[in-house]
Amino acid sequence: MRPPVVWRPLEATDLAYVAALEQQIHAAPWSLGNFRDALAAGYCAMVGEREGRIVAFGVLMLAPGEAQVLNLSVVPDARRAGLGRTLLDRLIDVAARAGAEQCFLEVRESNAPALALYAAEGFEAVARREDYYPATATTPREDALVLRRDLVARPPGHGRTTSP
Ligand SMILES: CC(C)(COP(=O)(O)OP(=O)(O)OC[C@H]1O[C@@H](n2cnc3c(N)ncnc32)[C@H](O)[C@@H]1OP(=O)(O)O)[C@@H](O)C(=O)NCCC(=O)NCCS
Repeated sequence: MRPPVVWRPLEATDLAYVAALEQQIHAAPWSLGNFRDALAAGYCAMVGEREGRIVAFGVLMLAPGEAQVLNLSVVPDARRAGLGRTLLDRLIDVAARAGAEQCFLEVRESNAPALALYAAEGFEAVARREDYYPATATTPREDALVLRRDLVARPPGHGRTTSP
Protein backbone atom coordinates (compact mmCIF):
# COMPACT_ATOMS: atom_id res chain seq x y z
CA MET A 1 0.00 0.00 0.00
CA ARG A 2 1.20 3.52 -0.79
CA PRO A 3 2.17 5.72 2.18
CA PRO A 4 -0.49 8.30 3.13
CA VAL A 5 -0.47 11.86 1.86
CA VAL A 6 0.04 14.57 4.48
CA TRP A 7 -1.92 17.76 3.77
CA ARG A 8 -0.48 21.02 5.04
CA PRO A 9 -0.36 24.72 4.13
CA LEU A 10 1.97 25.78 1.29
CA GLU A 11 5.00 27.50 2.80
CA ALA A 12 7.42 30.05 1.37
CA THR A 13 10.14 27.38 1.22
CA ASP A 14 7.92 25.28 -1.11
CA LEU A 15 7.47 28.03 -3.68
CA ALA A 16 10.34 27.26 -6.07
CA TYR A 17 9.54 23.53 -6.10
CA VAL A 18 5.80 24.03 -6.57
CA ALA A 19 6.38 26.60 -9.34
CA ALA A 20 8.63 24.07 -11.10
CA LEU A 21 5.91 21.39 -10.82
CA GLU A 22 3.38 23.89 -12.13
CA GLN A 23 5.49 24.39 -15.28
CA GLN A 24 5.28 20.65 -15.98
CA ILE A 25 1.53 20.40 -15.31
CA HIS A 26 -0.15 23.43 -16.94
CA ALA A 27 -0.07 24.79 -20.50
CA ALA A 28 -0.28 28.34 -19.14
CA PRO A 29 1.40 27.89 -15.76
CA TRP A 30 1.44 30.26 -12.81
CA SER A 31 4.84 31.85 -12.27
CA LEU A 32 6.78 31.73 -9.03
CA GLY A 33 5.61 35.32 -8.53
CA ASN A 34 1.96 34.28 -8.89
CA PHE A 35 2.39 31.75 -6.09
CA ARG A 36 4.28 34.27 -3.96
CA ASP A 37 1.52 36.84 -4.51
CA ALA A 38 -1.11 34.25 -3.56
CA LEU A 39 0.66 33.59 -0.26
CA ALA A 40 1.15 37.30 0.38
CA ALA A 41 -2.54 37.94 -0.30
CA GLY A 42 -3.45 35.36 2.33
CA TYR A 43 -5.10 32.90 -0.03
CA CYS A 44 -5.53 29.38 1.27
CA ALA A 45 -2.74 27.40 -0.40
CA MET A 46 -2.33 23.73 0.40
CA VAL A 47 0.07 20.97 -0.56
CA GLY A 48 -0.14 17.20 -0.29
CA GLU A 49 3.13 15.44 0.53
CA ARG A 50 3.93 11.77 0.27
CA GLU A 51 7.18 10.71 1.95
CA GLY A 52 8.38 14.33 1.85
CA ARG A 53 7.62 14.85 -1.85
CA ILE A 54 4.92 17.28 -2.90
CA VAL A 55 2.43 15.40 -5.11
CA ALA A 56 -0.49 17.85 -5.16
CA PHE A 57 -1.19 21.51 -4.53
CA GLY A 58 -4.13 23.88 -4.65
CA VAL A 59 -5.03 27.50 -4.05
CA LEU A 60 -8.34 28.91 -2.86
CA MET A 61 -9.34 32.58 -2.76
CA LEU A 62 -11.91 33.60 -0.17
CA ALA A 63 -14.21 36.59 -0.58
CA PRO A 64 -17.30 37.60 1.39
CA GLY A 65 -19.87 34.86 0.87
CA GLU A 66 -17.97 33.04 -1.86
CA ALA A 67 -14.75 31.29 -2.76
CA GLN A 68 -12.83 30.54 -5.93
CA VAL A 69 -10.54 27.60 -6.58
CA LEU A 70 -7.61 29.21 -8.41
CA ASN A 71 -5.36 26.20 -8.77
CA LEU A 72 -5.81 22.45 -8.39
CA SER A 73 -2.91 20.25 -9.46
CA VAL A 74 -1.78 16.67 -9.02
CA VAL A 75 1.59 15.49 -10.37
CA PRO A 76 1.16 13.09 -13.30
CA ASP A 77 2.44 9.97 -11.55
CA ALA A 78 0.03 10.44 -8.63
CA ARG A 79 -3.18 10.91 -10.64
CA ARG A 80 -6.28 8.69 -10.67
CA ALA A 81 -5.75 7.77 -7.05
CA GLY A 82 -8.22 10.17 -5.46
CA LEU A 83 -5.84 13.03 -4.61
CA GLY A 84 -7.52 15.59 -6.87
CA ARG A 85 -10.89 14.84 -5.30
CA THR A 86 -9.44 14.89 -1.79
CA LEU A 87 -7.71 18.22 -2.39
CA LEU A 88 -10.84 19.75 -3.90
CA ASP A 89 -12.90 18.51 -0.94
CA ARG A 90 -10.39 20.03 1.46
CA LEU A 91 -10.46 23.41 -0.28
CA ILE A 92 -14.26 23.32 -0.29
CA ASP A 93 -14.23 22.47 3.40
CA VAL A 94 -12.02 25.50 4.10
CA ALA A 95 -14.39 27.67 2.07
CA ALA A 96 -17.49 26.35 3.86
CA ARG A 97 -15.91 26.81 7.30
CA ALA A 98 -15.02 30.39 6.33
CA GLY A 99 -18.69 31.03 5.60
CA ALA A 100 -18.67 30.89 1.81
CA GLU A 101 -22.05 29.96 0.40
CA GLN A 102 -20.86 29.20 -3.12
CA CYS A 103 -17.65 28.23 -4.85
CA PHE A 104 -16.48 29.12 -8.37
CA LEU A 105 -13.67 28.00 -10.63
CA GLU A 106 -12.57 28.30 -14.24
CA VAL A 107 -11.53 25.41 -16.43
CA ARG A 108 -10.50 24.85 -20.04
CA GLU A 109 -13.40 23.34 -21.93
CA SER A 110 -11.06 20.64 -23.30
CA ASN A 111 -9.89 19.57 -19.82
CA ALA A 112 -11.90 16.36 -19.62
CA PRO A 113 -10.30 14.97 -16.43
CA ALA A 114 -10.92 18.20 -14.51
CA LEU A 115 -14.44 18.58 -15.89
CA ALA A 116 -15.27 15.01 -14.85
CA LEU A 117 -13.95 15.66 -11.35
CA TYR A 118 -15.83 18.93 -10.98
CA ALA A 119 -19.08 17.46 -12.29
CA ALA A 120 -18.76 14.55 -9.86
CA GLU A 121 -18.27 17.07 -7.06
CA GLY A 122 -21.42 18.99 -7.91
CA PHE A 123 -20.07 21.88 -9.98
CA GLU A 124 -22.17 23.15 -12.88
CA ALA A 125 -21.26 25.48 -15.74
CA VAL A 126 -22.74 28.95 -15.30
CA ALA A 127 -20.80 30.97 -17.89
CA ARG A 128 -18.29 30.79 -20.71
CA ARG A 129 -15.36 33.19 -21.10
CA GLU A 130 -14.49 33.27 -24.79
CA ASP A 131 -10.80 32.98 -25.68
CA TYR A 132 -9.93 33.27 -22.01
CA TYR A 133 -6.83 31.11 -22.31
CA PRO A 134 -4.30 32.53 -24.79
CA ALA A 135 -2.63 30.21 -27.30
CA THR A 136 0.63 28.64 -26.12
CA ALA A 137 3.36 26.72 -27.92
CA THR A 138 1.34 23.54 -27.40
CA THR A 139 -2.30 24.63 -27.07
CA PRO A 140 -4.65 26.81 -29.15
CA ARG A 141 -6.57 29.76 -27.75
CA GLU A 142 -9.45 28.36 -25.74
CA ASP A 143 -12.62 29.28 -23.91
CA ALA A 144 -12.94 28.92 -20.15
CA LEU A 145 -16.01 27.47 -18.53
CA VAL A 146 -16.99 29.07 -15.23
CA LEU A 147 -18.29 26.42 -12.84
CA ARG A 148 -20.18 26.96 -9.62
CA ARG A 149 -21.52 24.93 -6.73
CA ASP A 150 -23.40 25.71 -3.55
CA LEU A 151 -21.63 25.15 -0.25
CA VAL A 152 -23.09 24.00 3.03
CA ALA A 153 -21.99 25.98 6.09
CA ARG A 154 -19.66 24.03 8.42
CA PRO A 155 -18.19 24.81 11.85
CA PRO A 156 -14.82 26.67 11.71
CA GLY A 157 -11.39 25.02 12.04
CA HIS A 158 -8.87 23.06 9.96
CA GLY A 159 -5.26 21.96 10.24
CA ARG A 160 -2.51 19.54 9.26
CA THR A 161 -4.01 16.14 8.54
CA THR A 162 -3.43 12.97 6.57
CA SER A 163 -5.49 11.04 4.05
CA PRO A 164 -5.12 7.61 2.46
C1 LIG B 1 -7.71 17.29 -12.76
C2 LIG B 1 -6.79 16.62 -11.75
C3 LIG B 1 -6.52 17.57 -10.59
C4 LIG B 1 -7.48 15.35 -11.21
O1 LIG B 1 -6.66 14.80 -10.20
P1 LIG B 1 -6.66 13.23 -9.90
O2 LIG B 1 -5.95 13.03 -8.61
O3 LIG B 1 -6.17 12.46 -11.05
O4 LIG B 1 -8.22 12.96 -9.74
P2 LIG B 1 -8.93 11.83 -8.86
O5 LIG B 1 -8.12 10.56 -8.89
O6 LIG B 1 -9.26 12.39 -7.52
O7 LIG B 1 -10.27 11.59 -9.70
C5 LIG B 1 -11.52 12.02 -9.22
C6 LIG B 1 -12.52 11.91 -10.35
O8 LIG B 1 -12.18 12.83 -11.40
C7 LIG B 1 -12.47 12.23 -12.67
N1 LIG B 1 -11.23 12.05 -13.41
C8 LIG B 1 -9.97 12.30 -12.98
N2 LIG B 1 -9.09 12.05 -13.96
C9 LIG B 1 -9.81 11.64 -15.04
C10 LIG B 1 -9.46 11.25 -16.35
N3 LIG B 1 -8.17 11.23 -16.76
N4 LIG B 1 -10.45 10.92 -17.20
C11 LIG B 1 -11.74 10.94 -16.80
N5 LIG B 1 -12.13 11.28 -15.55
C12 LIG B 1 -11.18 11.64 -14.68
C13 LIG B 1 -13.16 10.93 -12.36
O9 LIG B 1 -14.54 11.19 -12.23
C14 LIG B 1 -12.56 10.58 -11.02
O10 LIG B 1 -13.36 9.72 -10.28
P3 LIG B 1 -13.12 8.12 -10.38
O11 LIG B 1 -11.66 7.90 -10.17
O12 LIG B 1 -13.97 7.59 -9.29
O13 LIG B 1 -13.54 7.74 -11.77
C15 LIG B 1 -5.46 16.17 -12.42
O14 LIG B 1 -5.76 15.45 -13.60
C16 LIG B 1 -4.53 17.31 -12.78
O15 LIG B 1 -3.76 17.80 -11.94
N6 LIG B 1 -4.60 17.75 -14.04
C17 LIG B 1 -3.70 18.82 -14.52
C18 LIG B 1 -4.01 20.14 -13.86
C19 LIG B 1 -5.45 20.55 -14.10
O16 LIG B 1 -5.97 20.42 -15.19
N7 LIG B 1 -6.06 21.08 -13.03
C20 LIG B 1 -7.42 21.57 -13.08
C21 LIG B 1 -7.40 22.95 -13.65
S1 LIG B 1 -8.99 23.72 -13.59
